[in-house]
Amino acid sequence: MSAAANGMATERPDAIAVEKIVKRYGDFEAVKGVSFNVAEGEIFGLLGPNGAGKSTLIRMMTTLIPVSAGKAVVAGHNVAKEPDEVRRLIGVIPQALTSDPDLTAEENLLIYAKLYSVPRGQREKNIAEVLEAVDLTKWRSAPTKTLSGGMRRRLEIARGLVHNPRIFFLDEPTTGLDPVSRIAVWEMLNKLKATRNLTMLLTTHYMEEADKLCDRIAIVDHGNLVALGTPMELKNSVAGANVVEVQFDREAEQWKERLTHLEGVTSVQPESAGFYRILTKSGSRTTMQLVEMAAELGETLTSLSVQNTTLDDVFVHYTGRQLRDEQVKPMMASWAMLQRPGDQR
Ligand SMILES: Nc1ncnc2c1ncn2[C@@H]1O[C@H](COP(=O)(O)OP(=O)(O)OP(=O)(O)O)[C@@H](O)[C@H]1O
Ligand SMILES: [Mg+2]
Repeated sequence: MSAAANGMATERPDAIAVEKIVKRYGDFEAVKGVSFNVAEGEIFGLLGPNGAGKSTLIRMMTTLIPVSAGKAVVAGHNVAKEPDEVRRLIGVIPQALTSDPDLTAEENLLIYAKLYSVPRGQREKNIAEVLEAVDLTKWRSAPTKTLSGGMRRRLEIARGLVHNPRIFFLDEPTTGLDPVSRIAVWEMLNKLKATRNLTMLLTTHYMEEADKLCDRIAIVDHGNLVALGTPMELKNSVAGANVVEVQFDREAEQWKERLTHLEGVTSVQPESAGFYRILTKSGSRTTMQLVEMAAELGETLTSLSVQNTTLDDVFVHYTGRQLRDEQVKPMMASWAMLQRPGDQR
């Protein structure tokens, strides 16, 4: 683990404290002794590819499956010893959409209000409040199946909040949403954090989401926690300070080798034919040398850009693999086919 591994120190009490938590399925360890703390009021992100163990972690923290070893204390209660107390204080949005499509938005919320023993006299008020919070008031009587994907996700967020929980667990709240709906959900979650004094733990594949939304991020890979810190700490913990992206008008074998030797370069990643992503300590010097090199060789650059390090680079650094927004699902699917769960890299 890196210097960023300890994350930020905090004076606030912990909403979640997970200590060397393990989940075994037979011989297979889906979670291999993970520890982290989430402070009250924090938005904490679990980031990782398919099969990393994110949902398994959430299921243990939310009492849905037993812990094999280690412990998790949520809202002051040990999940193994006081699951009922934990359940009363948390809201959970599972990975799959689970609201009943044949019921109206309001009816879906009412079922949950009853399930969570919200007193009769308070149900209507709570339902009106959460519908307002997720901007669905005018859709309250609409059958759920007529809502768009983003609206359904927002309804599920409302449903998870109907009993006024203190800690909110969201498993991939925006997977499958179009970019506009995704941003609407982010805005909603930010607003909820501010107005309801909620602690949130969410999982995501989306770097941008983690970067924009989370106070701190834990990168999970193959059941291990490989990095933990604020988005800024994580970005700073990666060697390169800048990312240079270059596209040559033709692919040539020597590009990677030549790029590696430019000043400041710490890594060179081929993206597609003639297209390279370069991590460098000095974007300006690397770029200058790169342009000179191309001129000397009589080669043409079709595009060149310099940016700051992103969480994508952090992910590559800690897991040795790429995780890109829109390409994530198909890419993950091919990894899943190539790698059996027990594989160690
Ligand atoms: N009930 C189970 N029995 C056996 N193995 C399981 C079970 N549930 C999960 N696993 C395995 O545990 C590992 C972690 O799964 P998990 O669902 O936690 O991953 P994830 O990070 O949530 O992935 P995704 O991004 O696809 O949701 C996977 O290899 C999965 O196949
Ligand atoms: Mg999952």
